[in-house]
Amino acid sequence: MSEDAKTVVKGLKGIKAADSSICEIDGEIGKLIYRGYNIDDLCAHSTYEEVAFLLLYSELPNQTQLDQFHDSLTAHATAPPEVLAALKALPKDVAPMAALRTAVSVLGHYDPLAEQESDESNKENAVRLIAVLPTLTAAIRRLRDGHEPIAPKPELSISANFMYMLNGEEPSADAAKAMDLILILHAEHGFNASTFSARVIIATLTDMYSAITGAIGALKGKLHGGANTEVLKTLQSVGGVEDVAGWVADVRSRKGKFMGFGHAVYQTQDPRAKHLKEYSQKLGQEAGDTKWYDLSIEIESQVVAEIGRQCNVDFFSASVQHYMGIPGDLFTCIFASSRIAGWCAHVLEQISDNKIIRPSSHYTGPDERSYVPISER
Ligand SMILES: CC(C)(COP(=O)(O)OP(=O)(O)OC[C@H]1O[C@@H](n2cnc3c(N)ncnc32)[C@H](O)[C@@H]1OP(=O)(O)O)[C@@H](O)C(=O)NCCC(=O)NCCS
Repeated sequence: MSEDAKTVVKGLKGIKAADSSICEIDGEIGKLIYRGYNIDDLCAHSTYEEVAFLLLYSELPNQTQLDQFHDSLTAHATAPPEVLAALKALPKDVAPMAALRTAVSVLGHYDPLAEQESDESNKENAVRLIAVLPTLTAAIRRLRDGHEPIAPKPELSISANFMYMLNGEEPSADAAKAMDLILILHAEHGFNASTFSARVIIATLTDMYSAITGAIGALKGKLHGGANTEVLKTLQSVGGVEDVAGWVADVRSRKGKFMGFGHAVYQTQDPRAKHLKEYSQKLGQEAGDTKWYDLSIEIESQVVAEIGRQCNVDFFSASVQHYMGIPGDLFTCIFASSRIAGWCAHVLEQISDNKIIRPSSHYTGPDERSYVPISER
């Protein structure tokens, strides 16, 4: 066997597995571009609905296109009663991401287009999934807390509706804007683990619900989307800024990971983090309680000094969502409710120029040997 054939790139880090026109990431300077637009510009001037349109259809919408897109989202935002009944039947202590994974799988059974393979039905399913994930996430929260799910209001944006369905009251313009920012920043990020999972699954020419169910399972992990939930647990367990040094030393002595720090692609700061950091400060000041922001800043400074790795999107998103009154174990579902736009764009891109994804492994087991009958083992 040649040396080349033995070379393994663990985790496929740095390997380019396909062409993609959806997202460009410059890990050295910390730049993130969705279909040619810098996320800094999208955060400053756009909305999540525009960004979802951009990811799906490659261009920002004009007003007519945006209005039509909003109407399509509204038409698909209500969760089928059978899916809500399935969620009600789950044990109360199921992890929200596990419940969301189940909900999307069940949702496929009630979509007459689920098993159709046309471009048109795939595009319609993408809109349906983008519209309904916030509804499902909100329903999971409400059912878990012993409340009935709330139906979406057609006149509200995805972000305002999301807050309304989570809390039972329409959000202030600022709260809806904070949710919109979170949704824009989490919408897409290239060939990350969950997106790649979705592409691997759809590349077998299965249905979109299978691909998205798999993606949710991948996002749930602590090394991926689940990190934001872990960050809040950290903030709540550390205590105050005076306890940070002891906590850092303790994590180090256990050879633990600092959740919300480091990134597979960025060698510098994750460009999404600065927006969330700014919002964490703003929401803390507005609430008259900057404790979580102050603690986050101290942790950031000491962890960066300790491991030489900057914070990622998950670090400040924890304090932002905490200030917004969102329970920590729901953070990853909020992430999924945004990333669904990126997942769907990648699924559509994959099937538009499909090749089954099937890497190989470098075999390290025993050489071929003689079979031993069970009586002689
Ligand atoms: C995101 C992550 C999985 C990337 O891993 P990666 O591609 O292997 O990144 P690197 O090559 O920089 O990491 C190499 C080493 O640096 C160290 N390192 C990186 N991030 C670290 C962290 N957050 N805490 C402690 N050590 C870290 C580790 O020794 C790591 O080796 P190991 O994975 O074998 O333990 C990793 O940084 C991590 O686990 N972060 C914490 C979880 C997190 O925040 N995930 C959300 C990502 S958006």
